[in-house]
Amino acid sequence: MAPGARFTITTPIYYVNDRPHIGHVFTTTLVDVAARAHRLRGEEVFFLTGTDEHAGKVSDAARERGLTPLEWADINAGTYRETFAAYGITHDDFIRTSEARHVERVQHYVRQLLESGDLYLGDYEGWYDPGEEEYVPDSRAAEHGYKSPISGRPLVRREERNYFFRLSAYGGFLLELLERRPGFVQPDARRNEVIGRIRQGLLDVPASRTGSAGWGIPFPGDPEHTVYVWIDALFNYLSAVDTDERRHLWPADVHLIGKDILWFHAVIWPAVLEALRRIPGNEWIGLPGRIQAHGFWIREGQKMSKSLGNFIELETLDEHVARFGLDALRWFLVTQGPLGAHDCDFAEARFAEVYNADLANTLGNCASRVANMTARYAGGRLAAPGAHPAAGELETAAGEALARFQQALERFALADCAQAGMDLVRAVDALIEKTRPFRLARDAARLPEVGAILYDCAEALRVASLLLWPVLPRAGEELWARLGRPEYAEALAKRGRGRLEAWAAWGGLEPGAPFAKGEALFPRYAG
Ligand code: MSP
Repeated sequence: MAPGARFTITTPIYYVNDRPHIGHVFTTTLVDVAARAHRLRGEEVFFLTGTDEHAGKVSDAARERGLTPLEWADINAGTYRETFAAYGITHDDFIRTSEARHVERVQHYVRQLLESGDLYLGDYEGWYDPGEEEYVPDSRAAEHGYKSPISGRPLVRREERNYFFRLSAYGGFLLELLERRPGFVQPDARRNEVIGRIRQGLLDVPASRTGSAGWGIPFPGDPEHTVYVWIDALFNYLSAVDTDERRHLWPADVHLIGKDILWFHAVIWPAVLEALRRIPGNEWIGLPGRIQAHGFWIREGQKMSKSLGNFIELETLDEHVARFGLDALRWFLVTQGPLGAHDCDFAEARFAEVYNADLANTLGNCASRVANMTARYAGGRLAAPGAHPAAGELETAAGEALARFQQALERFALADCAQAGMDLVRAVDALIEKTRPFRLARDAARLPEVGAILYDCAEALRVASLLLWPVLPRAGEELWARLGRPEYAEALAKRGRGRLEAWAAWGGLEPGAPFAKGEALFPRYAG
């Protein structure tokens, strides 16, 4: 993507009743890594996150505490904001569904969809999953023995008079979309799952609720109803950008979600958007680029849950940050986490193992090795590039690493982006092993070669630090300072934009510039 391009990415908006845990930090960190990578490339990035506030549980919890629902939501939304600040998250906006800007837009969309006939008042009877607050089609209910396909709890027969969204009219549209744009829902396993379920038939879905005791968005023209929380929540993606200054940021390039909320994002949301788009004046409302669904963190093979008491809470993550640093947590989440179709176990021992292998023994060690040799054999300053037994090798490796990073980013393969940078560091280590500058340095006549080797090593480390920065911002910026390139950090501060292609061009370091030794970037963890 060329500089001047734009990139819009969202997290789900989080239930304001919950306390932040690994699921929230994971999804938000992945989006943060992608947002930083696109800013580094010079794009105009819009990274949206926020809170989903209108669930019935919020007013219940508030009542128990003698608070209004909004007072309770204010407290918890504040906790999310503080958590994200502490975890280095660089969102551009934080939307709350209780905000006037959202409520006003949702009512506007609902009015439009009532007029187009995509929303209608109807009676419905069917199998209802109370935990998920959704109806389950008859065939699927039967297939799961009339138990929730998600929680396994019994489904209940329920009848209600509600407003419905005419999802059943969009089956053909959705199947054609999934066919025409195979990348629309990713990974492929999730796409196939969605296609299979659409083929089983689509039911219209509720778009309103009654009895929500004043908490929720009043349904236009029928104040006994409120907008169903899921419809309300999905609209956040649009309401946040539906202003004159921001409409150009739509459509979102990526909605990152967990696989548990796939149906709402891969089926209901595109159908709602398409219904809106067909209304004259709404031509700007295109479909998102991709719905990227990640898997789940589990523990010792089991789903994390409050009742099992095996949830990784924020306190556990805080402890890891205190012990290993925030970069280390980000590295672990991105390289070991369930980005793809599979779930991943959060194993304590693995954390330290990955930290030592990648961060302490590879990146940290390589940086101090090159800085130390530069101090010892070149007076602490970079020598001139030039001929040596492996000349050109790191330049080639750096070019390949950049290309790999760029391609991986297009696929949202964030772990591969990270490994592109780390493999370049590994190439530096391999080159040192191969050329043995510490051995060559015994012969004074070969010192220019030693200097040239070390120049290449420092230069490759500089390129690697750029590619690693989205995941390891602290270490990246520290290396830039040591290598005399503070301007990268300055350009990227406060959500600024970088110039990755230009910065990663080989030969950016000036001969004669110092390579400061500094403290160990990642001290080895001994347990
Ligand atoms: N409010 C809805 C989303 C509405 S979006 C229009 C919601 N909120 S949530 O707070 O429950 O979950 C947010 C995200 O956390 C989801 O993407 C979910 O997949 C993720 N995770 C929750 N637990 C998780 C793990 N154990 N592992 C990884 N991610 C998980 O859903």
